[in-house]
Amino acid sequence: MNGSKFLFANWKMNVDEADAAALAREIKNCVLPAAVKVCVFPSFLSLPAVARELKKSAVAVGGQDCFWEDKGAYTGEISPAELAALGAKYVLVGHSERRRWLGETSAMVNGKVKAALKNGLTPVLCVGESADDRAAGRWPVTLGRELEEGLRGVELAGNEKIIIAYEPVWAIGTGKACEATDAVEAHKLILNYLHELFGSARKKENFSVIYGGSVDAKNIADYFGNEEIGGALVGGASQKWAPLSEMFKALADR
Ligand code: PGA
Repeated sequence: MNGSKFLFANWKMNVDEADAAALAREIKNCVLPAAVKVCVFPSFLSLPAVARELKKSAVAVGGQDCFWEDKGAYTGEISPAELAALGAKYVLVGHSERRRWLGETSAMVNGKVKAALKNGLTPVLCVGESADDRAAGRWPVTLGRELEEGLRGVELAGNEKIIIAYEPVWAIGTGKACEATDAVEAHKLILNYLHELFGSARKKENFSVIYGGSVDAKNIADYFGNEEIGGALVGGASQKWAPLSEMFKALADR
């Protein structure tokens, strides 16, 4: 992968194996914007096919989740070690849909962040406030709590990296994207928290904060234009070639 900002494509449970392999092929064969690192997050069932398709390409593959142990009697769970062996480089952790539908707690999320790092995967820790929190002005408190609990006891060695995805829950899948200026404010706060939690021993390169929530070809350049925003985590607009290629076009001149 080259470039300096991330475009992460979260295919959720929306793209089956045949479509995922075809979409991966389109991405592999197109000219990607030079300044952008692309990673796709297919469903677990299509991940091996997508990883095969993208082997030796500039496009990375990631898991949508992982368990906090590598191996054991955990029926139905996904081993971070197996993800890494399949060629995954990144893993989403604590996505709000998992917190909501699967009851994922911060303690679980914390274990997943550590397990990812242990296996050489870069965790993409998702945090974000609800609509109520935003309306009541409590969003900094929510973000602080999710970061503190999600990163408790996490240590970064050498050039290990943690990516934080700021995904306000009210912006996910709603078409109501967060204004870029508000997103920048949240990114600054998150960067400050990271600095507090890890201290100055860790370099800028160890962290990135990216934005997610109704990103599409119309607004993606607004986010990428800000120094604090390290990229985007995109759901809906990344799951078909037409809107995805439009986003690549919107970033082509950057
Ligand atoms: P969305 O999803 O782009 O469809 O809002 C983003 C996400 O959930 O990661």
